[in-house]
Amino acid sequence: MASSKRSEWNSNIAFVMAMIGSAVGLGNIWRFPNVLYSNGGGSFMIPYIVSLFLLGISFVLVEYAVGFKFKSSLIKTLFRVKSNLEPVAWFIALIVFLITTYYICVVGWDLIYVVLSFTKAWGSNPDLFFSNNVLQASDSLSGIFTIVPWVFLSVLAIWAVGWFIVQKDLNEGIGKVSKILLPILCVIVVIIVAFSLTLPGASIGYTQIFTPDWSALTNLNVWLAAFGQIVFSLSLGMSIALTYASYLPEGSELTNNALIVAFSNSGFEIFNSIGIFSILGFMTLSSGIPFNELVTEGTGLAFVVFPKVFNIMGPWASVIGPLFFLCILFAGITSVMALLEVVCYSISEKFDFSRRKSATIVCAVGFCISCLFATASGSTLLGIFDAFLNNFALLFAILIECIIFGWIYNFDNLVETLNRNSTIKVGRLWKAVIKFILPICIFGLWAQGVYNTLLTGDSVSHIVMLCLTVVLIVVPIVFTKLPAKNKDFYKTD
Ligand code: PFF
Repeated sequence: MASSKRSEWNSNIAFVMAMIGSAVGLGNIWRFPNVLYSNGGGSFMIPYIVSLFLLGISFVLVEYAVGFKFKSSLIKTLFRVKSNLEPVAWFIALIVFLITTYYICVVGWDLIYVVLSFTKAWGSNPDLFFSNNVLQASDSLSGIFTIVPWVFLSVLAIWAVGWFIVQKDLNEGIGKVSKILLPILCVIVVIIVAFSLTLPGASIGYTQIFTPDWSALTNLNVWLAAFGQIVFSLSLGMSIALTYASYLPEGSELTNNALIVAFSNSGFEIFNSIGIFSILGFMTLSSGIPFNELVTEGTGLAFVVFPKVFNIMGPWASVIGPLFFLCILFAGITSVMALLEVVCYSISEKFDFSRRKSATIVCAVGFCISCLFATASGSTLLGIFDAFLNNFALLFAILIECIIFGWIYNFDNLVETLNRNSTIKVGRLWKAVIKFILPICIFGLWAQGVYNTLLTGDSVSHIVMLCLTVVLIVVPIVFTKLPAKNKDFYKTD
């Protein structure tokens, strides 16, 4: 197939499900509870909701309008806005690609835990088990040549699944998988939350969500944390929404869909955190460990604290444990396919490759990079990649996107596109948010990220970040210079 044959969603529900699947990911399950807890509990909902409406939904609407209007990949879209913006587009696509390479590795770790959880094979010390047995982690980069076989195999498995889904036709692959996995994901979360509420001590946990610390509202960092969570959770700036919206047929509703996706994503993370907090409350009651020592983020929560909880949960652990890890796995896979689609579509549109060819190239190269994270130094490297790409490069990309669509492109075209295709209208406030408020907030987060990432890291992380910076500059230039095989690519109207 030549890429000139454009894909299109065969139903609105396929688009909405795929969008929700792209947003609901590891960030909702293991990032949000910690962010909520550390930033004032119940009162955090105020900055969270303000960020969701004012910034999150506003930016998603830009991506929807741009995707729907241009009906092209990110690369061709920016090329048509201004031809010398093509390297910027490749820069963003490369960030998405590099994020995918380590995100897949984390999903791979989770796959290992799905298997382990049936027999609680992590033993009595999950902490040690995770670092010594699963990651076989070495402190520095000295273990970069030592492959960890199980991690390697699970990473290979997730890449294979990602390839298998993305190389298929849009509706047969991403559309169908989203329609299957998302309902299963919701059922699993409902079971976990319902079960967790019956545990003794659950109220110690869930009351934390409803107990506000109003003084937190005067803290700027709390507002930045809320905004950071929205950026991560809605996958802002990765042009997933732009790519998926470009496949919408004429006459589709835009604003309504954006609201459904944003509310479902936030509803999912808030509901899920009731379960997480209740389970941690049970742990506090049963083990005496103070609640605040249990609420950790990310891998610490999923692969250390939760196995400890399952160790003392009794027979139910062999049901809830696998369900918990499956939930992370499915949420991860639906996000992975969205990340891959952004990159594959970019490649296939410029070089006129079939879906299968671009998916094969992207996944083969991606897998080779992911192998770095399947070494004994993998977790160290992964932490550095994550800190640099998420706190620094991606925010920079969002800032650039605000400038491009708010200032370089005629923003009124987007207002017109959105209003023509939606019952809910947008206007001056939206324009002001994209042109002024969002860039200022992103800059605040970015400055915080620069401080945390660059100024507090060690020399190893600085070297890795420097290498990443060089890659992020050189590769986009090379891809821009490569001539397009698809001659339509250079048409700018
Ligand atoms: N929004 C998804 C999540 O919360 O996990 C997907 C995602 C976000 C992937 C951010 C990668 C990322 F850096």
